[in-house]
Amino acid sequence: MTDNTRSRAWFCMAVIYFVVAVALGLVMGGSGDHSLMAVHAHLNLLGWVSMSLFGLIGMAYPAITQGRMASWQFWLHNIGTPVMLGALAAQIKGVAGVDPLLGIASALVGLAAALFAWLVITRISMQRVTASAVQRRAS
Ligand code: HEM
Ligand code: HEM
Repeated sequence: MTDNTRSRAWFCMAVIYFVVAVALGLVMGGSGDHSLMAVHAHLNLLGWVSMSLFGLIGMAYPAITQGRMASWQFWLHNIGTPVMLGALAAQIKGVAGVDPLLGIASALVGLAAALFAWLVITRISMQRVTASAVQRRAS
């Protein structure tokens, strides 16, 4: 595996979400108040799990971590996720007027997901097609 800066940044972000999500899970379990379950679940899944996967896939295929589109994917996900989950927590706790912010931030995360899919499909699958074409020519 090739190491790269973008993957290291994803791993650092992932463990921060992991610690925060597990701490919230412990508070939920301890208090018996599970009202923030959706926040806990998405801190774990959009934070810890997705970010670890972005980091690992980026190590296996560094091409998806490079260039302007990869930077957009990184920043959209890293800005959208905390804003979305902060707004969701506020909405669950009854703070008025956060719905538009929740909607916009969720859309940013959705856009980041679409960009990631685009990076993988265009850069990993093309790479494999090229590699197998080279193999065919060599044999
Ligand atoms: C010490 C660690 C953890 C504690 C104490 C904890 C605690 C909890 C609690 C109390 C709930 C609410 C259950 C309910 O109301 O039905 C919950 C739900 C959930 N947790 Fe955790 N959690 C922990 C770690 C994790 C991790 C590491 C992940 C994912 C990688 C995770 C993913 C989820 C998900 C997806 C749900 C929602 C489940 C559903 O839809 O029924 N949790 N957790
Ligand atoms: C922009 C991104 C996302 C949005 C807007 C979103 C939205 C939602 C909504 C509205 C629910 C229902 C919550 C409820 O009934 O209280 C939900 C549940 C759930 N989502 Fe997501 N989701 C997103 C991304 C993801 C991702 C990436 C994963 C997994 C990798 C995931 C896993 C889950 C799970 C396991 C549940 C059931 C647990 C729960 O009720 O909190 N979601 N999501």
